[in-house]
Amino acid sequence: MTPTAGQEVLAWGMPRLRDLPWRHTRDPWAVLVSEVMLQQTQVARVVPKWLAFLDAFPTTAECAGASLGDVLRLWQGLGYPRRARHLHEAAVAVEGLGSFPSTLVGLQALPGVGAYTARALLAFAFEADAAVVDTNIARVYARVSGTRLTARQVQALADDALPAGHAWEWNQCLMDLGAVLCRPERPGCHHCPLAHSCAWRGRGDDPSVGSAGVSRAQARFEGSDRQARGRLMKALVTAPVAVDRVPDVMRRGPDDAARLLDDLLRERLCVRDATSVRLP
Ligand code: ADE
Repeated sequence: MTPTAGQEVLAWGMPRLRDLPWRHTRDPWAVLVSEVMLQQTQVARVVPKWLAFLDAFPTTAECAGASLGDVLRLWQGLGYPRRARHLHEAAVAVEGLGSFPSTLVGLQALPGVGAYTARALLAFAFEADAAVVDTNIARVYARVSGTRLTARQVQALADDALPAGHAWEWNQCLMDLGAVLCRPERPGCHHCPLAHSCAWRGRGDDPSVGSAGVSRAQARFEGSDRQARGRLMKALVTAPVAVDRVPDVMRRGPDDAARLLDDLLRERLCVRDATSVRLP
């Protein structure tokens, strides 16, 4: 991406930046919660959950002092509850350190924080020069370059394009460009500030298909293991469940239910005694 193209992205994006609540804070804990929620859940569903979560746990100290069960209760409805356990563990880790890490290496040492989340924290909480590659941004780079990229290539392109000193605005604008214009289907190339420097421009095979970091459509939920696990997790929010009622609650046969319950126990998302299952 040329420096002019970079300026054009900022000029396009800043006046129309989506007003999302986590864009009003630089608190690393609040930013971490938003990024973890946004990894597998749509913006519109995240907004109320993010507000409620931070209401309950405004700081790492409050989250670390709660039980994992309380964190999972607030997570209900977001899916992929391992993320809640990671957040709880990250809060405990930050409390152990005494302050929030602010380097790439320090951040990546937190439970559940990988290369993506660490860079998102650097850019969005610390306003440090880090190039974030989420699924939307990965799609933009694949299309602009006209190439199906490797993870290393897309990060290198993003690092190169980052306008020094503007990481917060740049990454937010590029995310919005990917979400609003450079959509997976029917991209709005006519309004795109990158159209004149884009190798693809909506014509021919889409180079973002199969490119690193670009998510594919989520697997079917109806009838999935995820759905059955979710039913048990939802029931556990209200009360413990008798072990012999687990197949009913999951609406699965006994073998499937036993296997899925074992998985949840191994992932420490619930605990059991001789007769019942409950949240940790
Ligand atoms: N997805 C991941 N991070 C985001 C952010 N900060 N704004 C909007 N969508 C996002």
